[in-house]
Amino acid sequence: MKVIVLQDEAAIGQAVGGLFCEAVRQKPDAVLGLATGASPIPAYQHMISQYKAGEVSFRGVTTFNLDEYCGLPEEHPNSYRSFMRAELFGQIDILPENTHFLDGNTADERAESERFRALIEQCGGIDLQLLGIGRNGHIGFNEPAEAFTQEAFKAALTPSTIAANSVYFTDIPMPEYAMTMGVGSILRAKKIVLVATGSAKADAVKAMLEGEITPRCPASALQGHADVTVCLDTAAAALLQK
Ligand code: F6R
Repeated sequence: MKVIVLQDEAAIGQAVGGLFCEAVRQKPDAVLGLATGASPIPAYQHMISQYKAGEVSFRGVTTFNLDEYCGLPEEHPNSYRSFMRAELFGQIDILPENTHFLDGNTADERAESERFRALIEQCGGIDLQLLGIGRNGHIGFNEPAEAFTQEAFKAALTPSTIAANSVYFTDIPMPEYAMTMGVGSILRAKKIVLVATGSAKADAVKAMLEGEITPRCPASALQGHADVTVCLDTAAAALLQK
């Protein structure tokens, strides 16, 4: 995996957002895999500024988000649909019908998983996938487990993830389940960029890059992918062998 260490979030936003803009300039109908949470926000801000400067258009782009909470109405401010609208989609020229999410309220998770898999395949696969990493090494909401997951499924969130994300939930308790793409589906992306910032991610980053490939650290599966760039700030990179 290629590792890039940058000074701060602004530099990471420019580097990672720049990679996404370049991918879209090269292929205006690119298929992008997107993440939510704090890590991608600087990249999304760079993409918005590039769009506003007339440097890139997202009109032909299709997106697939990694995950969505279960039990939240789509329009709830904490849904990942709402997040993406606020942080990116509402500020660029992407067509809403080309933005795809797993249905966290599905009554049939297997059918929903298959719908998502087939739709990604029909669009030609994901060209460039953006990832964050959880403090416990999760990617998407693939929590540490006994076996790597494959296709999208309904995940029970761990106490570590609930503790990290419940700060965003002020009016209702944080959902304990989410629909997420599986590790197998994430690894089918042609290129992957993972962003991690802050000292709370340092252990997970070390396990991902220097540990054994194990479902106890789902991000370690990325070691088996041919085109992964990991973009870190100095705090997240602090425990790596120099
Ligand atoms: C979100 C997602 C999660 C986050 C991870 C890190 O769509 O898939 O894996 O990337 O929990 O979250 P932040 O960036 O908020 O630290």
